[in-house]
Amino acid sequence: MVGGGSFSWSPKESRSRALLLAPVLCVWGTQRIMENRRRRRSGAAAERLLTAVAFLACSSQMPVVDGNSWWSLGLTPIQRPEMFIIGAQPLCSQLSGLSQGQRKLCQLYQDHMTYIGDGAKTGIKECQYQFRQRRWNCSTVDNASVFGRVMQIGSRETAFTYAISAAGVVNAISRACREGELSTCGCSRAARPRDLPRDWLWGGCGDNVHYGYRFAREFVDAREREKNYPRGSTEHSRMLMNLHNNEAGRQAVYNLANVACKCHGVSGSCSLKTCWLQLADFRRVGEFLKEKYSSAAAMRIGRKGKLELEDKRFNTPTPEDLVYIDPSPDYCLRNETTGSMGTQGRYCNKTSEGMDGCELMCCGRGYDQFKTYKHERCHCKFHWCCYVKCKRCTSLVDQFVCK
Ligand SMILES: *[C@@H]1O[C@H](CO)[C@@H](O)[C@H](O)[C@H]1NC(C)=O
Ligand SMILES: *[C@@H]1O[C@H](CO)[C@@H](O)[C@H](O)[C@H]1NC(C)=O
Ligand SMILES: *[C@@H]1O[C@H](CO)[C@@H](O)[C@H](O)[C@H]1NC(C)=O
Ligand SMILES: *[C@@H]1O[C@H](CO)[C@@H](O)[C@H](O)[C@H]1NC(C)=O
Repeated sequence: MVGGGSFSWSPKESRSRALLLAPVLCVWGTQRIMENRRRRRSGAAAERLLTAVAFLACSSQMPVVDGNSWWSLGLTPIQRPEMFIIGAQPLCSQLSGLSQGQRKLCQLYQDHMTYIGDGAKTGIKECQYQFRQRRWNCSTVDNASVFGRVMQIGSRETAFTYAISAAGVVNAISRACREGELSTCGCSRAARPRDLPRDWLWGGCGDNVHYGYRFAREFVDAREREKNYPRGSTEHSRMLMNLHNNEAGRQAVYNLANVACKCHGVSGSCSLKTCWLQLADFRRVGEFLKEKYSSAAAMRIGRKGKLELEDKRFNTPTPEDLVYIDPSPDYCLRNETTGSMGTQGRYCNKTSEGMDGCELMCCGRGYDQFKTYKHERCHCKFHWCCYVKCKRCTSLVDQFVCK
């Protein structure tokens, strides 16, 4: 089971004086750079410094986009906090997509933000991998809402997206703790597993999934918990759905983490082993959640204002399962209202009968066929010792694209 504990934040927000200087610095810096370029003056180092000052000053001037989600942290790289040389806290006010509570957590745990961004990115990438052969392919739009309007529908796909992103954050923070990147956590202090053989040592530096889990719970759930919807409303049921799926994602990482060991001893005899807690490969987390997606439970809001099964004959979902409240759109046609991108232009497989087959992928609209060159490594030969030499072969293959 996962443990309790909570992070607190102080409501005090300090305003940086440098922020007031920013507009002046921004204009001044930019003018100097342009002038220097024109006159081909000043050295490379001076130019770099000037650019840095101007960039920081100007970027603190960017309007804060009120995006839909912290997921947008995964789209743009977050500057490491030490890069923010002027101004004490421009980082958190600049990041778009944070809710009020998340912004406060950001101020308290600034060094975590890069890893939350990495986690979101890992989650988005894995989502796109798992859904690469489906009509809805988890594509992002170039927008603060990241996945676009489809997330307004409380569908299975939305459930998966929330879970995998929350999982990404647990993964990234747990790893960052182990690597000593964060000031508030270190190696895992998980208790020695009971079934570990006696003569194996426990205590290598492990991934701190306990901390990762707890921090992700505070951070990711913050935006849901801030909302104050009337019980029983559609918005309230959607909030419950999001919270459930966030938790399922976190638990996937937590529960899939396992013991890893290393051998010591005379010439690889493995007479001695040191073991520690290690995160599962994120691909496994993706596969696990994809299975949960396939078996996700349809829910509706009950009389007590809690989610309950739509069909009582099924098993009640556990915290590890995904839940959804709306049926999925068919994702066949482009539709601005639902945010569906449609499958026109998608590649399909003529011989497959699965979701990647042309019949299902193109929704019966048919497909265009064309030939394209495929480059591959071929005729590979092993040379003593030790390299492999290949040739490059080109072949003409058929490609199918949905109409
Ligand atoms: C960006 O998102 C907003 C709503 O969040 C939407 O109104 C707008 O059309 C989107 N823009 C693009 C280019 O998708
Ligand atoms: C888009 O989807 C909505 C909701 O499913 C539907 O009512 C509408 O007719 C669709 N619009 C188009 C242009 O297909
Ligand atoms: C997903 O599908 C859309 C069209 O439906 C396409 O534009 C996009 O490139 C695809 N994304 C990925 C990651 O395959
Ligand atoms: C198309 O689908 C068939 C049957 O599932 C599979 O054997 C084949 O490798 C697929 N082709 C490509 C190019 O993915």
